[in-house]
Amino acid sequence: MLTRCKSVVSALCVIALTHASPITTTHLHKRYDYPNPEPCTGNCTWIHDPSLIKKDGLWYRFSTSGNIAIATAPAITGPWEYRGALLDKGTSIFVADGQDIWAPDVTLIGDTYYAYYAVSRMGLQNSTIGVATSTSLLPGSWTDHGSISLPHSADYNLIDPNVLQDAGGQIYFTFGSYWNDIFQTSFSSPPLASAAQGVEVMNVVNNRTERVTVVEGSFQFKHPSNGFYYIFFSVGACCNTPPNLAPAGDEYRIMVCRSQSATGPFTDDKGRSCVAENGGSLVLASHGNVYAPGGQGVVYDESVGRVVLYYHYVRPSVGYSAEQFFFGYNYLDFGSGWPVVV
Ligand SMILES: *[C@@H]1O[C@H](CO)[C@@H](O)[C@H](O)[C@H]1NC(C)=O
Ligand SMILES: *[C@@H]1O[C@H](CO)[C@@H](O)[C@H](O)[C@H]1NC(C)=O
Ligand SMILES: *[C@@H]1O[C@H](CO)[C@@H](O)[C@H](O)[C@H]1NC(C)=O
Repeated sequence: MLTRCKSVVSALCVIALTHASPITTTHLHKRYDYPNPEPCTGNCTWIHDPSLIKKDGLWYRFSTSGNIAIATAPAITGPWEYRGALLDKGTSIFVADGQDIWAPDVTLIGDTYYAYYAVSRMGLQNSTIGVATSTSLLPGSWTDHGSISLPHSADYNLIDPNVLQDAGGQIYFTFGSYWNDIFQTSFSSPPLASAAQGVEVMNVVNNRTERVTVVEGSFQFKHPSNGFYYIFFSVGACCNTPPNLAPAGDEYRIMVCRSQSATGPFTDDKGRSCVAENGGSLVLASHGNVYAPGGQGVVYDESVGRVVLYYHYVRPSVGYSAEQFFFGYNYLDFGSGWPVVV
């Protein structure tokens, strides 16, 4: 627990330590039986932190690996075909030797596609978020703009960007974080190089239980009809391999909080605050031959009229190494006001 806070002398760390509440097991209880992932054909492996978007009847899937892999398919089911790298020449951002480009988040704003990404290496807290733009989504069409200059801080880590544009045009930008979980800031237009210099950031999700847990990979989703803003996030150990697997229940899983406002306060299905009371409702966790689902996103698929939760996961029967991670997805039901995998 102390490893992260010891190295980070910050107000948030002090708060996390002194206001720690006892560990409860309620978070670990699944709320329902999880169905298996829906079928996927074609290239469905070597997938981490996928981001889906549809253009002219074709689905595009962006994911971590090989300077951001781009694949396309006529339907989310597939067949998925690998098309090339988004940043084929890498990025101008330098964080550290052995760095990698992580967790793309692709959004259409106006007539331009914005791909936000993180540059990092396992264990580094001085990561940086950058952006590339395109009007076609295909490999070779992207212009890299480098860092958007979000301020670095000992309180957080600049990874796992996500953009939500509200009907009024306002951009809500979440990121983080491993350190102190999920942060949010907002912009009147999508940030490009240097646009985020000096902005104020707000902690929106923070698990302050005594045993510090990784919380990262946030994804904001505004439900098209019930008015709620949901924030999905991944909790736990994402990528351990045998014999060092996390204790059962500590591996990656997908949780959610919601609010009537894009900026929170976010609460869980028991009414607990997600920033002050360790709130968070489980959406999907390991089950059967599905292990450590996470790195998720949510998209409305109008061709089937349903909301889709997509993610990466491990099949223990296949293996745990990076290139063996699968692309998975399920449909979500929001009938109760809370997303249920169906
Ligand atoms: C499948 O996609 C991954 C990236 O997600 C890529 O590295 C790999 O080369 C692709 N495989 C084939 C056979 O195209
Ligand atoms: C980031 O941190 C690493 C590890 O401490 C260090 O080697 C690297 O120089 C830092 N990068 C920058 C841009 O400061
Ligand atoms: C908070 O951390 C505890 C301890 O690791 C964990 O059991 C729980 O599932 C976490 N809750 C959320 C909402 O992340």
